[in-house]
Amino acid sequence: MLPEIVTAIPGPRSRDLSLALSKYENRNITYLASHFPVFWEKASGVNVWDVDGNRFLDLSAGFAVAAHGHTHPSIRAAMIDQSAKLIHAMGDVHPAENKLLLCRKLSQITFERWGLGTGKTTLCNSGFEAVEVAIKTSMLHSGKPGAIGFTGGYHGSGYGALEVIGIRWFREPFQQQLRDFATLIPYPNCYRCPFGRLEGYRLDGSRFPNCASSCLTAIEDQISQAIRQRPIGCIVVEPCLGRGGEVVPPLDFLRMLRQLCDTYKILLVFDEIYTGFNRTGALFASDQFGVYPDLLCLGKGLTTGFPLAACIGRAEIMDAWPRSTGEALHTTTFLGNPVGCAAALASIELHLESGVGKRVQILGRRLRDRIKEMALPAIGHVRGLGLMIGAELVKKDGLPDPDLALRTVLAGLQDGLLFLGGGQDGNVLSFTPPFCIEVDEIDYTCAKIYEYLRFGSVS
Ligand SMILES: Cc1ncc(COP(=O)(O)O)c(C=O)c1O
Repeated sequence: MLPEIVTAIPGPRSRDLSLALSKYENRNITYLASHFPVFWEKASGVNVWDVDGNRFLDLSAGFAVAAHGHTHPSIRAAMIDQSAKLIHAMGDVHPAENKLLLCRKLSQITFERWGLGTGKTTLCNSGFEAVEVAIKTSMLHSGKPGAIGFTGGYHGSGYGALEVIGIRWFREPFQQQLRDFATLIPYPNCYRCPFGRLEGYRLDGSRFPNCASSCLTAIEDQISQAIRQRPIGCIVVEPCLGRGGEVVPPLDFLRMLRQLCDTYKILLVFDEIYTGFNRTGALFASDQFGVYPDLLCLGKGLTTGFPLAACIGRAEIMDAWPRSTGEALHTTTFLGNPVGCAAALASIELHLESGVGKRVQILGRRLRDRIKEMALPAIGHVRGLGLMIGAELVKKDGLPDPDLALRTVLAGLQDGLLFLGGGQDGNVLSFTPPFCIEVDEIDYTCAKIYEYLRFGSVS
């Protein structure tokens, strides 16, 4: 359904709640201002209702989580059913049966389907924890402490994840507590070439020079140099940047990484927390690019809404972890929570239904094309795969325009459209709607975005 706004935004109740929250929550967590946020009360499909009765169209799927739509009936039913029986078990001691069902299912839909044997899983509570399990696995498997990450990459905010993160400001305040075991390498970005080889290109693609992906040679050289300088155990990479601004790398990038990893006996870790589970129009981005990792991190759309993530690896690699003799080396109180496992199993069933990826591709193409067709000077680049689409906003001189992005996000909120700014410079409008979004909702959103950017109604 299209948005329906019945109060000022934020409404009176949201404002009251903001004021109260400012007293009790760490002030670094929720951005509280006169124009932000709205407090959510309920959600269904692509819609969210706030505590003042306003109906929003959610173009973010709540950080790309609500893949099948908010509060999906079959996921909700699975969670209700499970919570009537067992809400919590002893994950690494006396587990619930559905922990096995989920680990087996994850193996079947990843490494087994790719013909790479059984996949073994560590279930986690959060995406960053899954990335940290991957980094720990690399240490145990190779004995090499070093890692490679990429500029613009986002892997979460735990200290292990911060080592490989490529968005600097998340690390900076904590730099002195980090060990710096990772080397950061530029992520290929055809619009803003990190090697200055491209000037950018017009929306019709006419200025996209044939650089023969020369960035890949430069990246390969930098990685090889890093490997000579320190013992590297793994390369951690997002197949497409998510929070880094929906950057899709050149086709051969992941293949080149796979070859490097094979040559130097390094583990390839795909962080598919954002790109996984049909977000790019294929079950995994690995399928999209035909390149498969040694370790795979999943989260977000895994459950469509319950905090659960996973690190899955080829069995012979995961078996670098010693067999438990009563204490797990990496564990958490809520590991393999039965309600989370039930949500994940129900969500995966929906992901495996035929036509999901196709639908995501078709709707994503429409969203991308509609934004491209605007042909506005403020929109420097439109990109993405499936239903993860980014529109990079630029100033007249082509530099990133984060202020315009923020004003556009706020204008959208006033009109009942929920989307966020992303990218390393905060100048990318990021759209990751639930897969159940309809064409008229996409067209409505684009008409509004056009209005904001064309007529300068964003001031
Ligand atoms: C690619 C990627 N990795 C890791 C994370 C961290 O996940 P979480 O916020 O669940 O810890 C995110 C979150 O946005 C992500 O996009």
